[in-house]
Amino acid sequence: MSDSKEKTYTLINNQTGAKWDFPVVEGTLGPETIDIRALYEETGAFTLDPSFTSTASCKSRITFIDGDKGILLHRGYNIKDLAEKSNFMEVAYLLLYGDLPSREQYEEFRKNVTYHTMVHEQLQFFFRGFRRDAHPMAIMCGVVGALAAFYHDSLDITDPKQREISAHRLIAKLPTLAAMAFKYSIGQPFVYPRNDLGFAENFLHMCFAVPAEPYKVSPVLAEAMDKILILHADHEQNASTSTVRLAGSSQANPFACIAAGIASLWGPAHGGANQAVLEMLEEIGSKDRIPEFIQGVKDKKYRLMGFGHRVYKNFDPRATVMKESCDKVLAELGVKDPLLEIAMELERIALSDPYFVERKLYPNVDFYSGIILKAMGFPVSMFTVLFAVSRTVGWVSQWKEMMEEPSNRIGRPRQLYTGAADRDYVVLDKRK
Ligand code: CMC
Repeated sequence: MSDSKEKTYTLINNQTGAKWDFPVVEGTLGPETIDIRALYEETGAFTLDPSFTSTASCKSRITFIDGDKGILLHRGYNIKDLAEKSNFMEVAYLLLYGDLPSREQYEEFRKNVTYHTMVHEQLQFFFRGFRRDAHPMAIMCGVVGALAAFYHDSLDITDPKQREISAHRLIAKLPTLAAMAFKYSIGQPFVYPRNDLGFAENFLHMCFAVPAEPYKVSPVLAEAMDKILILHADHEQNASTSTVRLAGSSQANPFACIAAGIASLWGPAHGGANQAVLEMLEEIGSKDRIPEFIQGVKDKKYRLMGFGHRVYKNFDPRATVMKESCDKVLAELGVKDPLLEIAMELERIALSDPYFVERKLYPNVDFYSGIILKAMGFPVSMFTVLFAVSRTVGWVSQWKEMMEEPSNRIGRPRQLYTGAADRDYVVLDKRK
């Protein structure tokens, strides 16, 4: 990356004629970026961009998205290649450290992460404080934040080694906590992690095994779960990742930052969309009700969940891989799900109807992931939790990158104030 001295954008105040030049900063890929950090100091003006449609909030080397071309790269590697040829542990290493691991590095990383899969025994009492019908995302917000109360020896964020241990702990413990949240909601005993199993396999084991009998994880499901984890692992500066970075910029501990990310992910416009997709398909109920539903979308009564994306305006490359995986899992399991038929018909209509075509509303990753997860036996309330398990890798990688940046300062957006100006205080008895 180079800070180009020659290329600038000039800002002109139309009333005074005053002019300022702002330098262009170019990355390796993506649009040129105007560095406006000095704007307020030089002009006394702010910029307004409430949903960050034109604002790069940071420099990052981790993930690149070209929304128009439907490209997603992690550290330069195409998501399709990673999903087809790699595995989640390797992708986690790549995101965290920047390169694909050698065999030795891979084994060591896998060992380190696996070593941290158990959670402090006392943590299970936190679960018991929740109602059985608590949403597992509510539980996750609480227990992940609570990890900071258990792992004091890795809370010094100025120490790179402690940061690394926290990162490994978070990647390792999220599946354990997620499986505990699931088991708690269905009234079954918690199943301890098994370090002889792979990451996805161990997770499925903790979710679906019971202590009373042996349980063998289906390799097809383990592979599909691994793929789901890869496809959700990182997505540059989305809402939850930006939340993690902003929380981290105040030097909050990593467990608190990831808990903040989980809270942000929960919303239906973000990670909660996979749950919302299934609920939408269930609400539609049958294919003959689709036209009425589509009309409701066009009348803007509700949105077609699992469609559209802030950045992808062509197709979501994750959705392409997820669709293939979805077909494979359903075929292997012999699942004939009527909801799937509704989903396919919705997809067909949305890809041909001018309303959706003009607005570039394509199926996103969450459209298919919900269908696979349902076929695997997860209740809809667990879908976003699975997203959180996977995205934790992206969150900790982005947090680590930010903490390693020497110029890291607290994030502090400004605002355009539109409230009342100067008002005189009137005592209570004299107010009308
Ligand atoms: N269904 C129907 N219309 C839509 C949808 C949708 N899913 N998404 C956008 N639109 C319309 C919207 O009404 C607007 O139309 P008009 O120009 O007539 O006012 C236009 O498309 C642009 O919408 P927008 O709200 O400005 O788009 P955005 O970039 O702010 O929103 C989004 C992106 C993902 C929040 C949105 O597409 C959405 O709500 N999708 C459904 C929820 C979803 O599937 N989210 C998961 C995203 S992928 C995984 C993740 O990031 O977590």
